[in-house]
Amino acid sequence: MACLPAASLALRRWLGLGLFVLLCLSSGYALEKKVVKSKVGEKVGLPCCHEIPSWESLHNYRVYWQKNTTEVVLAYAEGKKISEHDRYKNRTEMDPRNLTLWISHMEILDNGPYQCVVQRRISQNSVVVCDEAVALIVTADFSEPNITTEVSATSCDSTEMVVTCSSHGGFPKPRISGTFNNMSVVWNAIWVSESSFSPYNVTGKQSFNVTKDTNITCSVEYGGLAKTTSLILKKTNYCIEPTVPPSYNVITASSIIIIIFLLAITLAARYLPRHVCSHCCKPQDSVEEGVKEYMKPPMSSKVTSETSSV
Ligand SMILES: *[C@@H]1O[C@H](CO)[C@@H](O)[C@H](O)[C@H]1NC(C)=O
Ligand SMILES: *[C@@H]1O[C@H](CO)[C@@H](O)[C@H](O)[C@H]1NC(C)=O
Ligand SMILES: *[C@@H]1O[C@H](CO)[C@@H](O)[C@H](O)[C@H]1NC(C)=O
Ligand SMILES: *[C@@H]1O[C@H](CO)[C@@H](O)[C@H](O)[C@H]1NC(C)=O
Ligand SMILES: *[C@@H]1O[C@H](CO)[C@@H](O)[C@H](O)[C@H]1NC(C)=O
Ligand SMILES: *[C@@H]1O[C@H](CO)[C@@H](O)[C@H](O)[C@H]1NC(C)=O
Ligand SMILES: *[C@@H]1O[C@H](CO)[C@@H](O)[C@H](O)[C@H]1NC(C)=O
Ligand SMILES: *[C@@H]1O[C@H](CO)[C@@H](O)[C@H](O)[C@H]1NC(C)=O
Repeated sequence: MACLPAASLALRRWLGLGLFVLLCLSSGYALEKKVVKSKVGEKVGLPCCHEIPSWESLHNYRVYWQKNTTEVVLAYAEGKKISEHDRYKNRTEMDPRNLTLWISHMEILDNGPYQCVVQRRISQNSVVVCDEAVALIVTADFSEPNITTEVSATSCDSTEMVVTCSSHGGFPKPRISGTFNNMSVVWNAIWVSESSFSPYNVTGKQSFNVTKDTNITCSVEYGGLAKTTSLILKKTNYCIEPTVPPSYNVITASSIIIIIFLLAITLAARYLPRHVCSHCCKPQDSVEEGVKEYMKPPMSSKVTSETSSV
């Protein structure tokens, strides 16, 4: 029955058995491949296998949308809804032409294999037109991984840290991975979930010897998606003797500079005028120099007055 697509009874007589088997195989291959992805809360359409031509109507058909071959999600006969699953109440619609099943407010529980079966009424009998499976994969986003660290031991060369990476509220069950200084990390992971169809919380722990500032990343992968966080682990080194805090250093350094400066000024105040005088007194002979000499004393006196006032 599952191998009837595009092959009405009349057509079947025309087709050789070999071709029919081939048709079955190819449609079987297609069954495996049809996948629809969605996220919790979204609306998504599951495609069916038949489009009702414009000269016909849904009245001539029976359409069954079922999940996992056991529960009927939605069924139509003679153009009317004949069945709707409680869990899908008010959440489903079916396109009257291409028979796409629209499901809104997606839930984790909606995950699974779906099947669309279309029958056409020919006089008193129903003939299967097509039958197709589609897998619905519903994911829920995990939170950005949260990395926390705790120093467990320190030595002069390294800091031993326990790193915890956690993420919550996602689906399906995730894989947790990461890198530490470009090497892959294997986390000791714990998964928590109320059931296999509930959101998961995941926590990974690992300890590391940090010998220099190192980049660590943590990735949570689920249903082909991933969330990644990275952090720089700082090496905390307690080996250096407790030194004078920098504020004291600054004060000491600045006081030394001030003292030297004051000393220099005092010395300058004491010796500079004489130096200037002895220097300018040397070329006494020429008249020109004498003019210069006349010009200079006020300048030097100005210098001394400036320096002493500082
Ligand atoms: C079915 O029809 C609806 C609207 O008429 C369209 O959005 C949807 O893509 C169609 N689906 C397929 C599988 O053709
Ligand atoms: C569906 O919608 C109707 C009216 O809009 C409402 O009365 C009913 O409670 C809803 N059912 C569910 C299961 O939400
Ligand atoms: C499909 O139904 C079978 C039997 O009822 C059950 O064992 C299986 O877990 C179901 N699979 C899914 C994906 O719901
Ligand atoms: C990360 O986890 C720590 C400890 O559990 C918590 O205090 C902090 O608020 C969390 N940060 C975020 C962004 O969730
Ligand atoms: C990490 O590895 C990649 C290739 O695997 C390389 O390009 C990159 O430079 C490496 N980074 C560090 C910090 O070693
Ligand atoms: C998962 O984590 C969230 C937030 O931290 C919390 O509210 C929830 O109870 C946890 N779920 C389980 C199953 O532990
Ligand atoms: C870190 O190094 C110390 C000594 O160097 C060793 O005893 C300890 O096992 C190391 N820890 C890890 C997590 O490699
Ligand atoms: C850590 O490395 C990753 C790639 O390996 C990079 O994307 C990320 O920006 C780095 N983080 C920091 C804080 O440098």
